[in-house]
This record gives sequence, C-alpha cells and structure tokens, in this order.
Amino acid sequence: MHLLPAWLMLAAITATAQTPPADLARKNGCLSCHGLVHKQVGPGFAQIAERYRNDAEAPARLAGKIRDGSVGTWGRVIMPRQAHVTENDARALAQWVLSQPAPR
Ligand code: HEC
Repeated sequence: MHLLPAWLMLAAITATAQTPPADLARKNGCLSCHGLVHKQVGPGFAQIAERYRNDAEAPARLAGKIRDGSVGTWGRVIMPRQAHVTENDARALAQWVLSQPAPR
C-alpha cells in the first residue's frame, strides 16, 4: 500500500463529509413531493426560491420548517415533519432550495 499525499487525503475527507444537496434531497425523499421546478404535492423548489428571493430570513426559517413540517403557506396540503433530516442537512437543503434559478 502506498501513502497518499496529504492534500489528497484531505480532499477525500472533505468530499465525504458533505453530501451534495441534490443527493440529500433524493436520499431524504423530498423529491417524491417536490418538483425541482413545478408544483407536485408541494411547491416546486424554483417556486419557493422565487417567493423568498428578497427574504434574508428565509434560509433559517425554511431550515426549521423542513424539520418541523409546514401547512398553510402554499395551500392546504400538509408537509409532514421531516425529523429524519439532521439540522445540518436541513440548513444545506434550505440554502440549496433557495438557490434554484427562477422558474420559466
Ligand atoms: C409528503 C410530501 C412532502 C415531502 C416528503 C416533503 N415536502 Fe416540502 N412541502 C410539502 C408541501 C405540501 C408544502 C407546502 C406546505 C405549506 O403550504 O405550508 C411543502 C413546503 C416546503 C417548503 C416551503 C415552506 C415555506 O414556508 O414556504 C420547503 C423549503 C420544503 N417543503 C422543503 C422540503 C424538503 C427539503 C424536503 C425533504 C427533506 C421536503 N420538503 C419533503 C410536501 C412535502
């Protein structure tokens, strides 16, 4: 077995520590209710991004709502609480949802 250069090991560690948010969304079942762009059961992620474009508090608020669930903001369909999502993952997901480009 040969030794890897330190920078390569560091790069590998960083890569495994952070799952890309798109994978988190798939892994946590978000995409069974949300379209990336358009409404399915819940609003499309691009529609959510559009709605909170100028809302500085949206990242923290939405991270909380991902774990606690939501109803009444978009309609009468309930988003059940996603307690299996860690706080860190919820924050990453909220940032990612809010960074979706405008729906066309
Ligand atoms: C069972 C279906 C379902 C699943 C699974 C689901 N959602 Fe939702 N989501 C909804 C519905 C319905 C709404 C609209 C709730 C409302 O009107 O307040 C919503 C709303 C949201 C909102 C906007 C909240 C707001 O205040 O505007 C975000 C952000 C969100 N979901 C992210 C996620 C993420 C991330 C996941 C995966 C961890 C996820 N959702 C999983 C159905 C779902």
